[in-house]
Amino acid sequence: MNLGLEGKVALVTGGGQGVGRQICIELAGEGAAVVVNDLFAERAQAVAGEIEAAGGRALAAPADITRPEQVDAMVRLAAEHFGKPISVLVNNAGIVPERREKGGRTPLFLDMPVADWAKVVDLNVYGTMHCCRAVLPGMIEHGAGRIVNIISEAGRVGEAQLAVYSGAKAAIAAFGKAIAREHGRHRITVNSVALGAVSHAGIKDGPLSVGATVDNDERLGKMLNLYPIAKGLGRLCRPEDVSGVVAFLASERALFVTGQTLGASGGFVML
Ligand SMILES: NC(=O)c1ccc[n+]([C@@H]2O[C@H](COP(=O)([O-])OP(=O)(O)OC[C@H]3O[C@@H](n4cnc5c(N)ncnc54)[C@H](O)[C@@H]3O)[C@@H](O)[C@H]2O)c1
Repeated sequence: MNLGLEGKVALVTGGGQGVGRQICIELAGEGAAVVVNDLFAERAQAVAGEIEAAGGRALAAPADITRPEQVDAMVRLAAEHFGKPISVLVNNAGIVPERREKGGRTPLFLDMPVADWAKVVDLNVYGTMHCCRAVLPGMIEHGAGRIVNIISEAGRVGEAQLAVYSGAKAAIAAFGKAIAREHGRHRITVNSVALGAVSHAGIKDGPLSVGATVDNDERLGKMLNLYPIAKGLGRLCRPEDVSGVVAFLASERALFVTGQTLGASGGFVML
């Protein structure tokens, strides 16, 4: 299937590691020129270098997406660099900074300091909004665009000890639907992909780290039982299990898919 991504310019936020890194690599493999954003320049440069070494086109674009002026400058730079505006935006950067207590547990809502709420909302919600605001004018001008938000199943069903994060991810999906309604007439689609637990090299310890096995981490065995496909595979989801889903939603082939949230969590949630 030709996804029609050849020659498109795609911006992936938080593309320096984990899920975002793999989305960058996937889109570049489909022929897109990829703007690899990350808060950490060295991460963005490493992924852009990987893409270029494989024969693709990429631009490392370090910026803090919670800062609208940095987002605007990044989008301008990308358009200048590739000679055309961004037509695919993947809002991937997101964190779970609810402070982890001993044993890797995050706190209940009532135990979470108010100051920590802002970090979650700033990156997940405002970061997504800043990026949408920056790329939409170029998409409108060209009468086409794809926006894919990476959310969490926590945003669809709520998760204990991730209350603020759950609310922030739900906000992104609802915001995306509203934008989808406002800009369908410009042939811009906006969708969200809801992830469950994804294991990758950027996660250093606990059941989501790449070194975790059911023998050395008893929580992993319990987690696998929550995800029908993971249970079948005997492992958690990996970035390469979801990057193709994102590429499809970013593609020409998904023109009539908009305002949707697609679960890519191995059956953790079935709506
Ligand atoms: N890994 C999981 O289990 C999981 C589960 C559900 C949803 N998700 C979602 O998937 C997305 C990616 O998750 P991940 O595990 O790959 O995350 P990660 O934390 O490993 O990587 C996120 C990247 O975003 C960058 N970043 C952080 N703040 C930034 C900012 N202000 N501006 C620009 N970049 C910034 C980080 O430097 C990092 O490289 C997130 O939205 C996350 O909420 C992940």
